[in-house]
Amino acid sequence: MNQVITHPPGSLELISGDFKGKDILSLDQFSAADLYRVFALAREMKELVLASQPSQLLAGQLVALLFYEPSSRTFGSFAAAVKRLGGQTLDIQNPEVVSSVWKGESFEDTISVFGAYTQAIVLRHPLPGAAQRAAEVANVPVINAGDGNNEHPTQTLLDLFTIYEQFGRLDHLKGLLAGDPLNSRTLHSLIRGLALFEGNTVYLLSPEALRLTREDLLALRSRGIEIVEIHSEREIPTDCHFWYWTRIQKERLSSLDEYQQLAAASFQVTPALLAERANREMILMDPLPRVGTIDPAVDSDERAVYLRSQIRNGLYTRMALLALILGKA
Ligand code: NCD
Repeated sequence: MNQVITHPPGSLELISGDFKGKDILSLDQFSAADLYRVFALAREMKELVLASQPSQLLAGQLVALLFYEPSSRTFGSFAAAVKRLGGQTLDIQNPEVVSSVWKGESFEDTISVFGAYTQAIVLRHPLPGAAQRAAEVANVPVINAGDGNNEHPTQTLLDLFTIYEQFGRLDHLKGLLAGDPLNSRTLHSLIRGLALFEGNTVYLLSPEALRLTREDLLALRSRGIEIVEIHSEREIPTDCHFWYWTRIQKERLSSLDEYQQLAAASFQVTPALLAERANREMILMDPLPRVGTIDPAVDSDERAVYLRSQIRNGLYTRMALLALILGKA
């Protein structure tokens, strides 16, 4: 179950410049041009929000937020994105407890029901491939807000937008990706996104047991991105443009014991590590929640963007994506 789902050619609909009505399931649907389209619109959304300008772009649109796993930022930013644009949301968190799922309703039926009420479904689910299954059933677009340890494409939109705003480009960059490459869906989508641009290198820092599967490592390398696995803080190159720290995905492990062992072997960002291995221009990112990833003593460092622009960009990029998918931009 650890391996990322590889989509057979043709099984995913490419965006190819036209977002309207499309499901967003994987970074594999995007080209560099598609990403730039989202970013251009995200910049407009940013201006709108900063000016507290009311918008009716999504007036009359109802979006289901169907979250089978806990979430703060993704749920909150999708809700904020729809509402900022004058639309409405149907919020279902923990459907296994609060909906007919509890009575034994199938996943497919639940998706059909919410698809019948709304114009789009944003789905978070613990099983890899759940979003793709939902897309097969629903007659409205499905946005993958994280499917198990597979992918989290909208997180990557905001992550790449954050990097792009900082450096003005997405090519010829070096990134340190630390924590849990095996199970972090944010990393699985981010590496795919970075592979769309020339000359990028990522350094993966993790305990041995949390490395990417060998199949994924080879498949991702074959896209042209350079991937270097490192095993200690001493190996972190000092010229990285960004550090992206992820927590150990406890909920994907088989026992608390396993988690505790891995947590003891994992790496943390401290003021000392930043002083030793980071340069002045880099940015420090974390998709959050922060659990054993970054010492709060680092928060006041201006390079720490995880509680600042990285968070806000989640709102702007999701506003942009929703407007595009619902055919309003
Ligand atoms: C991430 C996720 O859910 O995959 N959180 C998020 O959406 N910002 C990262 C995580 O849970 O570790």
